[in-house]
Amino acid sequence: MGKEKVKNQLLVIFGASGDLTYRKLVPALYDLYKQDALPENFAILGVARSSFTDESFREKMEDGIRHFASKREEATVEDIEAFNKKLFYLSINTDEAGDYAILKKKLDELSEELNTGKNYIFYLSTPPALYPLVPKYLAEQGLNDEGDGFKRIIIEKPFGTDLKSAIALNKSLLEDYEEEQIYRIDHYLGKETVQNMLVTRFANGIYEPLWNRNYIHHIEITAAENIGVENRGSYYDNSGAMRDMVQNHLLQLLALVAMEPPMAIDADAIRNEKMKVFQALRPLTQDDLKVNIIRGQYTEAHVRGKLLPAYRDEKGVDANSRTETYVAMKVFIDNWRWAGVPFYIRTGKRLPIRASEVVIHFRPTPQSLFIDNDEFRNDGNRLILRIQPDEGILLKTGMKVPGRGYQVKEVNMDFHYNQLHNTYLPEAYERLLLDCMIGDQTLYIRGDALEQAWKFVQPILDYWGENEDVPLYGYPSGSWGPSVADDLIEGAAMTWRYPCKNLSDDGIYCEL
Ligand code: BG6
Repeated sequence: MGKEKVKNQLLVIFGASGDLTYRKLVPALYDLYKQDALPENFAILGVARSSFTDESFREKMEDGIRHFASKREEATVEDIEAFNKKLFYLSINTDEAGDYAILKKKLDELSEELNTGKNYIFYLSTPPALYPLVPKYLAEQGLNDEGDGFKRIIIEKPFGTDLKSAIALNKSLLEDYEEEQIYRIDHYLGKETVQNMLVTRFANGIYEPLWNRNYIHHIEITAAENIGVENRGSYYDNSGAMRDMVQNHLLQLLALVAMEPPMAIDADAIRNEKMKVFQALRPLTQDDLKVNIIRGQYTEAHVRGKLLPAYRDEKGVDANSRTETYVAMKVFIDNWRWAGVPFYIRTGKRLPIRASEVVIHFRPTPQSLFIDNDEFRNDGNRLILRIQPDEGILLKTGMKVPGRGYQVKEVNMDFHYNQLHNTYLPEAYERLLLDCMIGDQTLYIRGDALEQAWKFVQPILDYWGENEDVPLYGYPSGSWGPSVADDLIEGAAMTWRYPCKNLSDDGIYCEL
């Protein structure tokens, strides 16, 4: 990524007093600074209602860098001082249209003083109620006009809470901005291992010929978390796992696994192919809604000697809440490549470990020549694309056990990113922020695809909303979720892969 491509610019963060700025955005910007990836003239203006001075904002951000930046350990006082000089703060009422004249004036002054030009990125890390308002108020000040420099908006999730609100938000943004100015973030796309899915598929001649219904039996996509809702109970209770994880992160992973090869690695080509996957998702029938979507909620349990509270006892959560903290579902993609291949998707909080991965289950060999032994079931090779932690790839393959006869054993062929010495794995926000600075939308969600993903999920939300008696299964914290989820997977011996913390340790021992 050549530095010359990044123009001088100013980044404005709305919601600058919040957690995301402190934990993720500013530490990521610091890491970019340390890699000399920021443009020559660059500044960050934090904007929020809270009253900070430049000084007190810098102090808070320094604390964030010291705790959360990847390059925190090597951060010298001089480094931080030099970076701090790029940080500024402005307190305004972000829901007051009139206050945006103050912002405009501040931006004029800063860009003049620091010679950043009139290239602005506006990052909305605010409560979602402000998503339509801030861009509108900016536009009223002419801050959407690209005549004197680019103007881009980054919007955090949740982009809408349902199909209707997502359409309305897109419509409102497009009144003042071009699609090319709108960057809808999904931080999963910033993960190095998620991008590697494209490379695995399209830089290797050996996988792609097998990547279809003729050779693949089914595909699993799991995003397991061991944390609960933490201090986000009041947000989460109005959201649930379907909105929080499936509509965005998991459907994005699905699109990357299932898409056709793009004509080029660029924003249009890749996003066109992803869109086609969303369009081909088979709409869920009443029967599918009843049988193929399972939801659960964590209950109180002792985990490693600690009593973890039930979801309903978490701060900010309704004591009778029926919000799902776990979802498992079976879906199909109706196109030539995937006809008849089930995709099993699963996510949950308070599961035994944090692990996200995609598992490709290849079909078994047509004849089971070596079935005659206990260790080998001939239920097909598996390719595991591990997104986190212990990022890597694992291929499960049958090998002959040395000695008499033909004893076969399943062994692992694996690659772990940590085997790449001296290679730095950037954080998702680093990659995404830099892409926006360069003007590359490839890893951001296009408006039409976002609506299409909502279109798929909406009937599930409606079904749950309209039918109070749809089961919500309790599962003890620290377990793998409701056991009924196992019944989703067809085939007598088939079940989910239960991943371990270490990618290749399954079947041997599991360190949780
Ligand atoms: C966020 C969700 O988008 O993703 C959180 O709102 C979730 O609930 C998080 O914990 C998971 O992200 P990661 O990068 O830790 O897998």
